[in-house]
Formats: sequence, structure tokens, C-alpha cells
Amino acid sequence: MSQKSEAVNDFDFHGKALDNIFDDYEVMLSKCPVGHSDKYGGFTYVAKSEDIFAAEQDPDTFSVAPSMMLPSFGTDDALIPIDIDPPAHAAYRKILLPLFTPMNIAKLEPGIASSAKQLAEDVAAAAEQNNGVADVSKLFARPLPTIVFSRLAGYPEEDWPLFDQWVDDIIYRRTKEPDVAWAAGDKLMEYFDGMIKKREAEGGDHDDLIDKVINSRIDGRELTHKEKLSYCFLLFLAGLDTTAWGLRASLWYLAQNPKAQQQLRDNPDQIPMAVEEFLRTLSPVQAMARTCLKDTEIQGQEIKEGERVVLVFGAGNRDPEIFEDPNEIKIDREDNRHLAFGGGIHRCLGSNLARKELVIGLEEFLKRIPSFETGGGEVWHGVGPLTLRIGKE
Ligand code: HEM
Repeated sequence: MSQKSEAVNDFDFHGKALDNIFDDYEVMLSKCPVGHSDKYGGFTYVAKSEDIFAAEQDPDTFSVAPSMMLPSFGTDDALIPIDIDPPAHAAYRKILLPLFTPMNIAKLEPGIASSAKQLAEDVAAAAEQNNGVADVSKLFARPLPTIVFSRLAGYPEEDWPLFDQWVDDIIYRRTKEPDVAWAAGDKLMEYFDGMIKKREAEGGDHDDLIDKVINSRIDGRELTHKEKLSYCFLLFLAGLDTTAWGLRASLWYLAQNPKAQQQLRDNPDQIPMAVEEFLRTLSPVQAMARTCLKDTEIQGQEIKEGERVVLVFGAGNRDPEIFEDPNEIKIDREDNRHLAFGGGIHRCLGSNLARKELVIGLEEFLKRIPSFETGGGEVWHGVGPLTLRIGKE
């Protein structure tokens, strides 16, 4: 191992490690694009965009079993469809496709806009009552995806207040407090167990995710109860905090850059381009794991059968061979082939929905909040508080 690769041999992509992760990426990309980290039982990381795309296209070498999550997500069960390899993966994924077509997502647009408008008004009202400051993460970035996805999924509104804590425990506490994550994972499974049984007893005739899962068949057979639970568990964890992080990170950046904020307020048609740039540089999913199924080599480094491999999407998104000035956030960047949603057979199924929520969310926020500023010191990552000074008309 080279001297430089030792500089990142404690490479981590969770929690506090995210504070300075972009410095790690610069070292990895310039000195050791494939290297080893001792974290989480040890893994080989892959940092360059072209190598990540190639691994994504090669599921015979890079398997998603036993889990794409490292460490795993408060359950030992393979999550459908994300932890399933070919050939079984395609049939599992196909069941969800109709829910996420551009046409189906377009139907959600008016609901996304009216919820975003209401939440932005709540931010303004909260600031009015609190010396001009408001937590835009708690009041805007987190609730918008919860409302939008819960409607699509069919989760009853009275349950929504339970969700943030489950997400926090399962996703954000799993590295330091695995017992908390596991206990919350059990509670979430119990919740879906109850909901699936209730909906089955009612006949399953709603046009939503729960009933889609109840009514679907695979190779002519009904899904098992465990398969139904697995779909619900994965979509809950994939659909809420990712988009919340994306919205929060976009507001974090704009709060520090009043010129960019005004540019987008004056030219809302540029918001979709800015969203792609925020996804590239401040992506909610910085990395995901695979397992190597046969000895192979990337960038001259051997990877042995059985090794865990981490595809570092966040590093690939800052690869200077692909992006000019890769560490600069340019809200009008045109050519933006980023990896925020992955890039192979597991490419994010919710990308159309996430993009709509991010674009419409920012449009409505910028329309209703005349200016917003950072207090300083807030971290760019995660879904924690983001308390900003909110201007008045
Ligand atoms: C900004 C928000 C989001 C980001 C950055 C994101 C990112 C990702 C990434 C990186 C993957 C793995 C891709 C791969 O390894 O090739 C993934 C998979 C997936 N995502 Fe998302 N996601 C987001 C939002 C959503 C939403 C809103 C949903 C659903 C409501 C969703 C559902 C899924 C599903 C079902 C998979 C697994 C697909 C498969 O295995 O075939 N995601 N996502």
C-alpha cells in the first residue's frame, strides 16, 4: 500500500466523518483511487467515476448481497429490491415500476406544490414568532418528503409524527448505537406487519404502495408476508430521509450564498439545473456497498473474492477527469453526469419523485421566503437542525 493510501485507511462515510469527507476525496482521487479502510469490518473503496459506473454494470462480480448498506439498516434480512442480485432482481423491481413512472409522478405535482407552499408559510410564521429565526430542516426539508411519500405509500396521516424518530434511530444512530437501530428496526417491521394485515383484511383496493405490494404476484405466485414487509421497510428508508437531506443541503448552500439564492429566485427555470448540482456535490447517499464475488482488479489494485467493496458515489461526483472545477458548486453547470442516484440495474427507482420534490420544494420556498441567511457553523450533511435567519417581505 502506498504512503498516501494509508492517509485514508480509516476512511469512513457516516456521521462526523462527513464533516471533512471532501478532503478525503481529494486525496483518494489524486493518490489512491482504490484503497483499503479498516472501518466496519474492513472494505475496499472505489473512488473514480468510471470505475464506479463499471462496477455498477457488473453485478456478476459485484454483488449487492448480503446488503448494500454498510453497516446494515437495523435488520439482517435482505431488503427488496436493493439487496437482490440478478436474475431475481428484475422481477422484484418490475412490481414497483408503475408507481414511479413520470406519468404517475406528474399526478403528484399539485399535491407537492400545495404542501411545499403551506410548509414555507409555516417557516415564515415560525420566524415571525421567534425573533426572525426558524429551523428549516424541521419545518420544511423533513416534513415535505414525509407528506409526499406517505400519500403515495398510503401511510395514515395520524402515524406520520412517528416517522422521524424511526428514521433517525435506524439510519443515523446505527454506527454508534446499533442496539437503538435494531430496536427501531423491529418497531418499524411490527408497524408494517400490522398495516399489511389490516389492509389485506380490508380487501386491498387502494391505489397506493401498500396495496400494490399486497396484490402483486411474482412468477404467478403471491408474495410471501416476509417479502411484503421487506418492500415496505426498504421504501420507507429510501423515500424519506434521502430527499429531506437533499432539500436541507440545498437550503444550507443557498443560505450561505445570497447571490445564488437571488439568481434562482429571479430565474426559477434554472432550479432544475441547480438541483442536479446540489445532488452532485452534497449528495444524500455518499457511498454504498457490494461484495466481490470473484478475484478482480481495479486501477492495478487486487480485490479478492469475499471482500466488501464500497462504491464512493460522492468521490466519483468530484472526479476531476469528469467534472471541471469539481469542488466548485456551479448552479448553472450543464454537463452533469453525476452518480447521486447510482448507475446500474439498481439505479434509484425514486429519482423522478425525488427530483420533483427538490425542484418544486425549492421553487415554493424561494417564492415565499424573500431571503434567508446562515447563522454559521451548520454542517452540510444529514437531516439535523438548520436554523436560519428568515427575511421579511
Ligand atoms: C435525493 C433523493 C435520493 C437519492 C440521492 C437516492 C439515491 C439512491 C441510490 C444511490 C441508490 C442505489 C443505486 C445503485 O446502487 O445503483 C438508490 C436505490 C433505490 N432508491 Fe433512491 N434515492 C433517493 C430518493 C428515493 C426515493 C424518494 C425513493 C422512493 C420513494 C427511492 C427508492 C429507491 C429504491 C426502491 C432503490 C433500489 C432500486 C433497486 O434496487 O432496483 N429513492 N437510491
